[in-house]
Amino acid sequence: MSMDAVHPRVLGYLGRALSLELTAVQQYMTQASLVGLWGDEASAERFREETVEEMQHAEKIVQQMLQLGVAPAASQLQPVRHAPDLVGLLEQNTELEQQLVDHYAEASRFCALINDDANGAFFQALLEDEQHHSRELEAWLQQLGGRRRRGYARYGGSRDRRGRATF
Ligand SMILES: [Fe+2]
Ligand SMILES: [Fe+2]
Repeated sequence: MSMDAVHPRVLGYLGRALSLELTAVQQYMTQASLVGLWGDEASAERFREETVEEMQHAEKIVQQMLQLGVAPAASQLQPVRHAPDLVGLLEQNTELEQQLVDHYAEASRFCALINDDANGAFFQALLEDEQHHSRELEAWLQQLGGRRRRGYARYGGSRDRRGRATF
């Protein structure tokens, strides 16, 4: 499909994808630093690797947008939310990865509908990456005993009740 025939909704999907990927970069980068402060260097390294993967996704989207002749302009990033421990962080990450999966699934379906094969394949590849992330996260959560049923109170301040760094 030629450059001038790109459906505006496809550009919208690309813009929202960039916002979500950069949200993931900010979230995983923050978590790497946070668990590092908690002394959990192994988890910090995993979060750092995920940060790089999400940055590579963001880069692919920027490249795709440039090829389509549009300026990358991510809008609002979602703020990183508080969680008191690793399980809480991973639960938040499964929510974010689900947003990415849902977004890429919808974008792929729309491209199929309008016969935009090139962008459809682009979104499909990202969908598969995020589905893979989701499965890895679920496996990590299971190793830690699975997700919690209830929420947790905010501790407030820059230290939680165990004296660990928080926000
Ligand atoms: Fe991603
Ligand atoms: Fe991801």
